Amino acid sequence: MSPAPAAASGTSAAGVALGQELIYGCMGLGGSWSAQPYSSADVDEAAAAVEAALDAGITLFDHADIYRNGKAEAVFGEVLARTPGLREKIRLQTKCGIRLGEQGLEAYYDLSRDGILERVNESLARLRTDYVDVLMLHRPDPLMDPAEVASAVGELMAEGKVRAIGVSNMSGPQIEMLQDRLEAPVVANQLEMSLLKRAWLESTVLVNHAEGTDYSFPHGTVEHCVRHGIGLQAYGSLARGLYTGAPAAEPSPAEEATSALVAALAAEKGTTGEAIVLGWLMKHPAGIAPVIGTAKPGRIRACAGAAEAAAGLTRAEWYGLWVTARGSNIP
Ligand SMILES: NC(=O)c1ccc[n+]([C@@H]2O[C@H](COP(=O)([O-])OP(=O)(O)OC[C@H]3O[C@@H](n4cnc5c(N)ncnc54)[C@H](OP(=O)(O)O)[C@@H]3O)[C@@H](O)[C@H]2O)c1
Repeated sequence: MSPAPAAASGTSAAGVALGQELIYGCMGLGGSWSAQPYSSADVDEAAAAVEAALDAGITLFDHADIYRNGKAEAVFGEVLARTPGLREKIRLQTKCGIRLGEQGLEAYYDLSRDGILERVNESLARLRTDYVDVLMLHRPDPLMDPAEVASAVGELMAEGKVRAIGVSNMSGPQIEMLQDRLEAPVVANQLEMSLLKRAWLESTVLVNHAEGTDYSFPHGTVEHCVRHGIGLQAYGSLARGLYTGAPAAEPSPAEEATSALVAALAAEKGTTGEAIVLGWLMKHPAGIAPVIGTAKPGRIRACAGAAEAAAGLTRAEWYGLWVTARGSNIP
């Protein structure tokens, strides 16, 4: 089926409004990754992170069933339960499809019909909500049958448990294969994109260049998403603090130079390093929405000025950040 494309910065056919915005990534909430139960301190930490995110103007929260062994969703559910009115103020997305530590395997993927239905029902119970705004298929499962995926997603949408469908870590052709069967448009694709992880950018630029063969990022993915109104969401967008003060064991000369440039631009423009790093992504015309994963309220608030920083970066500054981060000139 070929539904009308959703607007990249607008409201999907299902009525979920996604735009170029900051998204709060909840992977850091919920304590350890072990099966050990979460504590009340973990719930308090999640509440403080949610409050800081709201202060920073963020209203879209990103989850996955596997984050902290389900505990990221569970502590978020506790925060929702103790904060009347919060659910109505925010949009929630979660993901399914990765199984960790089961069947004697460290990881395998399961986008079977039953797998999708079971995982979403579990996520809703942990999140203590009746619906998620966006369900993302976390990674392509080579054993998935697009018709089966479409059947599960169609059922969840008909029941009102899922309002829109998205994907993660998928190429343009993989999205197309699913879209051929899905009734609803794919509204978003979440990929790793940052000043550090630049394959999304370099693979599109180094066409017909020897260096271009070094990238695993499939050519045409960004263009496919832009053409079809599929919002691009960037995970790892803060480069895990590499350019904004996170201790690095042995930073490379390019990393040191990039940190210095980020700090200098932030000082010159009266903003934060985080805003510069995220603004660099947001200046790209694909309308990238950065997913930020820090659990520290101060760092979450430091991200608030990202859109303004994007608007304030000149073309030369944008290229300067790119070339400095890659540690060599572009062709
Ligand atoms: N779709 C996928 O396959 C996928 C994969 C990975 C992640 N995600 C999503 O994307 C979100 C963001 O990803 P991410 O967390 O990997 O990337 P990120 O936002 O680039 O990095 C966040 C991590 O970096 C640390 N950090 C940031 N600035 C720092 C600083 N100045 N000093 C020290 N530490 C610093 C944070 O620690 P503190 O908490 O201590 O600040 C946190 O552990 C996740 O929460 C998740 O929602 C999706």
